[in-house]
Amino acid sequence: MTAGVPFLVAERRGVVAGYVVAHCAADEGEILNLGVAPAHRRQGIGRALVERVLQELAGRGVRTVYLEVRASNAAARQLYESLGFGEVARRARYYRRPVEDAVVLRAAIAAERGSAKL
Ligand SMILES: CC(C)(COP(=O)(O)OP(=O)(O)OC[C@H]1O[C@@H](n2cnc3c(N)ncnc32)[C@H](O)[C@@H]1OP(=O)(O)O)[C@@H](O)C(=O)NCCC(=O)NCCS
Repeated sequence: MTAGVPFLVAERRGVVAGYVVAHCAADEGEILNLGVAPAHRRQGIGRALVERVLQELAGRGVRTVYLEVRASNAAARQLYESLGFGEVARRARYYRRPVEDAVVLRAAIAAERGSAKL
């Protein structure tokens, strides 16, 4: 099992189009942040970044991945749910500006494929 901070950047024609950062310890990982620049959204970059970081985490021995997302963030929640993440908890008033609950999502990832188990 390896600890670490996978940080992946998606590049389109020499420009940073998106990034994802995670961390892991033992067999648990967490996606800390994910962002795709507005001009590059809805082109599959967010999905590719999450799939790639899940593979990276699986390769480091991670079997369960967590993340937090704003309750109102329909785009991100849909993306994560399509990759096998499910809601496991809520953190009331977790975010500021504006104040909003966080939804905690979790997925199990398979060792051999590095993809979320659906
Ligand atoms: C969430 C985000 C990373 C998605 O990136 P993206 O590159 O546009 O996503 P993709 O093109 O890979 O889309 C993958 C899936 O996400 C969902 N999705 C993405 N944008 C969506 C939107 N505006 N509305 C609804 N669903 C959306 C869809 O299920 C989509 O699959 P589909 O294209 O087959 O319908 C991007 O909108 C973003 O950077 N948002 C601001 C930052 C943020 O919310 N980060 C997540 C914090 S946890």
